[in-house]
Amino acid sequence: MCGVIGAVSHEQVGQLLVDGLQRLEYRGYDSAGVVTVSEKGLARLREVGKVRALNQSMQKSPLFGQCGLAHTRWATHGKPTQTNAHPHVSRDSVAVVHNGIIDNCDAIREELLADGYVFASETDTEVIAHAFHQAYGETKDAILALRQTCDRLHGTYAFGLVLRDEPGKLWAACHGSPLVVGIGDQAHYIASDMVALASLTSRYIYLEDGDSVVMTQDHLQIFNKRNQPVTRELHELSLSVGQTSKGEYRHHMLKEIHEQPEVIKNTLAGRLTQEDVLASLFPEEAMTMLEGIDRVQIVACGTSYNAGMVASYWFESIAGIPCQVEIASEYRYRHHVVKDNALFLTISQSGETADTIAALKHAQMFGYQATVTVCNAANSALARLSDYVLLTQAGVEIGVASTKAFTTQLTVLLLLVLGMGQQRQCEGLNVIKQGLALLPESVEKLLDLASQIEPIAQWLSHYQHALYLGRHTCYPIAQEGALKLKEISYIHAEAYPAGELKHGPLALVDENMPIIILAPNDGMIDKLLANVQEVAARGGHLVVLTDAPERFAKSQNTRIIPMPAIMPALVPLLYTVPLQLLAYDVATVLGTDVDQPRNLAKSVTVE
Ligand code: F6R
Repeated sequence: MCGVIGAVSHEQVGQLLVDGLQRLEYRGYDSAGVVTVSEKGLARLREVGKVRALNQSMQKSPLFGQCGLAHTRWATHGKPTQTNAHPHVSRDSVAVVHNGIIDNCDAIREELLADGYVFASETDTEVIAHAFHQAYGETKDAILALRQTCDRLHGTYAFGLVLRDEPGKLWAACHGSPLVVGIGDQAHYIASDMVALASLTSRYIYLEDGDSVVMTQDHLQIFNKRNQPVTRELHELSLSVGQTSKGEYRHHMLKEIHEQPEVIKNTLAGRLTQEDVLASLFPEEAMTMLEGIDRVQIVACGTSYNAGMVASYWFESIAGIPCQVEIASEYRYRHHVVKDNALFLTISQSGETADTIAALKHAQMFGYQATVTVCNAANSALARLSDYVLLTQAGVEIGVASTKAFTTQLTVLLLLVLGMGQQRQCEGLNVIKQGLALLPESVEKLLDLASQIEPIAQWLSHYQHALYLGRHTCYPIAQEGALKLKEISYIHAEAYPAGELKHGPLALVDENMPIIILAPNDGMIDKLLANVQEVAARGGHLVVLTDAPERFAKSQNTRIIPMPAIMPALVPLLYTVPLQLLAYDVATVLGTDVDQPRNLAKSVTVE
């Protein structure tokens, strides 16, 4: 979603800000803009479309100044037009960039209109610029005006602000949307995510909810929501440019698919012990709490929800613990009956997904024993709000369609299930542990399937729709495969538990409906063969992922992706990879924007 970057420095910042926006492109956006402030006043450029266009405008008319802000906008209030693009300006003297949603913007707009302010855009952000202008005019104190402005806003925000009359200062504030401060050499920065600052600094401060900040090139002062000066912890994190670049790969998504063996290995490192797996995942005091857990409620969105679905099968079949899963945007708006000794578990790559955060806050009213998040961002809102954090070690994921984040989520979830299974003295855990230890190698070998998947992708790219079928843990993996295909190729794809086929979707099956079936050679393969016959009898075309190809009749309507034999617990982790490759290849055949698919954003920080 929207990306924010700001800088106040001893050197010119215009190009540095636009370069930072390029690193934020992965979040998804539809327009971009930049403002600098110098003795000559505010200078602003805004363009609809890619940051490339903004860069070209910068080359033609460079912006001068040692202080400024830039923004990529993902439209919420008002269409993606130049006038709606940030920065927004009040009376030529205040410029603002903002990430989040101001819920009471209509009411504030009415008040400001009555006070004579003129609005140039349809955005909620513009009310921040005018409200600050008004408060500053009355108080003549920027920090106080910033606090008064924040107190007037309901909703979520992370915004940066510069003033024409103070060209060497930058202000910022956040509530419910993340904002990081970067400490440079005679420079300070703000950004909605540290990736924007990757080549500028390795020293960061994560602002807390309600914080505001004022900075010059040499000084930084943070205030809490009561406007008291505070200090926040400094973090040293080196984010190499290699982690955020495509390297030798054509797309970030392909690079991230290929990184899976390594990041799964990193996620397992030090955690897959013969003794107590939980001891490597949690602090001492959590052990007794986990021992007493009788049920688990998982909440997440999108791909992370699919990981939760797989985990629910694992919790019940491996550790004998009842488990429910719910989409966060549903969970957050309903009443719940929570029995004693229940654990609340969120899953999120970014840790900033608005619905998942709201669901966690909602859950805190229902008396869960503890809250745990499986997350890829150690300093995210979800990590801060949860009692315990289980970090995945996926590294930065740039491709909007999640790949390595998903498989590392599955890895951590399986570790958790194994640990809780150990506490309950369940059987069969050691065999799974042995298989899990070999998982990075198994995934590495699967990447060799690429050459067999390419021709299938060529063929699939001619269709408008596809159905994905699986049973047990392969059902959520079918969902994940369908989600990947629709996200990046724009082919309509749906997933069903294979047994549901004749309860409706079979009506869609003809020669125009390719069906992708996940058919590991387990206790369910005979049932899947029956489904295959139902499809074949209606002229449907099949792609079958299986380690038992001999069980499927050879016909020109059936294409096989040969899978290695693997124990059932690890099937979901392995069967994910060819589906990622299939979606990627179809998208590249169709020539879509694989890393930044239309309308989508990487961190969904608004509801
Ligand atoms: C799909 C995808 C999304 C996210 C969802 C939740 O490829 O990436 O469906 O999984 O927006 O995001 P996180 O995991 O950051 O909470």
